[in-house]
Amino acid sequence: MSEILYDFGAGRSDPETFPTEVLKEAAARVIEREASALTNYPGNLGHAGLRRAMAARETEREGVQVDPEHLLLTNGSMQAVTLSAEALQDNPADTVILEEYSYPGTLSAYRSLRLDMVGIPLDEGGMKMDALEMELKRLHREGRTPKFIYAISTYQNPTGFVMPKARRLEMIELARRYEVPIVEDNCYADVHYEGDVEPAVYALDDDPNHIYLCSLSKILAPGFRLGYVYARPPMLEKILARRHDAGSNYFASAMVAEFYKDGIAAHAAHTNPPLKAKRDLTCDKLEETAADICRWSRPVGGLFIWVRIPDDTDRQKLYELAQSRGVNFLPGIAFHYQTKNVPYLRLAFGHLTQEQIAQGVPILSQCIRETRTSNEAITFDTLFD
Ligand SMILES: Cc1ncc(COP(=O)(O)O)c(C=O)c1O
Repeated sequence: MSEILYDFGAGRSDPETFPTEVLKEAAARVIEREASALTNYPGNLGHAGLRRAMAARETEREGVQVDPEHLLLTNGSMQAVTLSAEALQDNPADTVILEEYSYPGTLSAYRSLRLDMVGIPLDEGGMKMDALEMELKRLHREGRTPKFIYAISTYQNPTGFVMPKARRLEMIELARRYEVPIVEDNCYADVHYEGDVEPAVYALDDDPNHIYLCSLSKILAPGFRLGYVYARPPMLEKILARRHDAGSNYFASAMVAEFYKDGIAAHAAHTNPPLKAKRDLTCDKLEETAADICRWSRPVGGLFIWVRIPDDTDRQKLYELAQSRGVNFLPGIAFHYQTKNVPYLRLAFGHLTQEQIAQGVPILSQCIRETRTSNEAITFDTLFD
């Protein structure tokens, strides 16, 4: 196994902007000030200061009041994904609707819960509403009511696309008509580069059955393992009833609460521009080295670029060749709800240096060329058919 020098695999934050010194001071203050709380269990909702800070983060972005008493801190948003599914699921084989390409962690959690996943095709505006309506109708005819719709509507993982407001309203209307709650995963919230920010589903619809998930992994760092759920009673109680771990890490929560006590805007203004520059560089390098054989997304936020590769690429060989030359990426199959071996791959650019991106993308493009079974011109001109 060769050493991986260009790791486009995981969606991680940028180590270059990690606020080491400020966090060291925050940690020292927290230990002194909150020593007595640290000798106790945090409780199911978690550190009140961080819940207030995250409620303020939501209110600032969405312009609607978010009650910190309806926020529940979790061990990363991954725990929030699992808890919300467990709260909404009644039986194994219950149906859940989600984007055809989705976050592998969610797919794996839903598979473990034995949920029956129904995938909805995507385009540049996220989940397609005509396809969603068709599936809801079909399931209704079959007497199956999906337990929920799981949607990553903003900086979708893996495609990077954002669902426009009009489409969000259509999704809300369909969810209302078929009485299906929406679980909105906004893990990449605030990792924003340009353009308008589309409103979250909860800001457009106050249906108390919808559940909102968010994270501190992407805006700050995944090592804190902090995320949260925003849900209103009685849904909140249903989720809390699934929790048996006595709450999330109090020390990490207290430190991050201290760090964000004046809001997250200043920190986001510091971390997002270098990420945007890395997005630009990744796209530029793709343009230079793969424009004739690939198409890719140019996300306005988040950490991923979704790349369509030629149909005649031997995907297994590509993965192995890239690894042997020090390049890691996640293949399309990892994101497909039915593990279909689709001709796509995902590049995560957040934690690589500019130099690694500039060197790694051309190596990957060359690997794609070498693992094709022909030299024919590609037959597609867009990311999706
Ligand atoms: C869409 C989505 N949801 C949830 C997560 C889980 O992140 P974390 O548990 O670090 O908050 C991820 C991580 O990549 C993700 O992409």
